[in-house]
Amino acid sequence: MLDCTKYEKLFSTPVLRYAVPEAETLNAALMAEGERMRSASDGVEKSNRGGWHSRGNLFRESAACFRQLHEIATEAIFDATARIGAKTQREALDLRISGWMNANPTGGFNAPHTHPGAHWSGVYYVAQPEIEVGNSGMIEFIDPRSDLPNWRLLKAAPFRIKKKLRPQPGEMILFPSYLVHWVYPNEATEERVTIAFNATFKMAEDKDAVT
Ligand SMILES: [Fe+2]
Repeated sequence: MLDCTKYEKLFSTPVLRYAVPEAETLNAALMAEGERMRSASDGVEKSNRGGWHSRGNLFRESAACFRQLHEIATEAIFDATARIGAKTQREALDLRISGWMNANPTGGFNAPHTHPGAHWSGVYYVAQPEIEVGNSGMIEFIDPRSDLPNWRLLKAAPFRIKKKLRPQPGEMILFPSYLVHWVYPNEATEERVTIAFNATFKMAEDKDAVT
């Protein structure tokens, strides 16, 4: 019998989930602000199909709910960055977060995509309709490694090619921006409303250099 002297899980992909406290109050405020913005703007077409995607950076808006969510996202991002064992100190980093709101009505979905150029990407769930069964509103991640089909016959968890999640209202998820993801069509009559964001670090000296 051979001894296995080491088993390393190399090149892992961190996906983290956070529960935002007292999310109901925050979500009500975000829904109201979202409605106000939608009545003023047609939105833009990105990965969304059949839904509304806000223009610009939500976190530049003055509404208290967006400022609160910006603070929560910042806390989650630095928590996740610590959990992956980052050696760069928080004080040495300049963090920029850019966010937008997605509202997916019945049939609305997001096509597979990545968020190039950022470090973390995240999604905060404002409204996620209840469903009995099926994949309605689920986010699915696709393994970015190549040649995985070759491994599928082993049915081993480290080589699964996709993973889907159905976060609830008040949850925030974080994942590396290079990770391909998409959202299953909303089969419910109510809208699915999320706020997605990209978080990008620069070294703080770089910021000083350009100002
Ligand atoms: Fe996305």
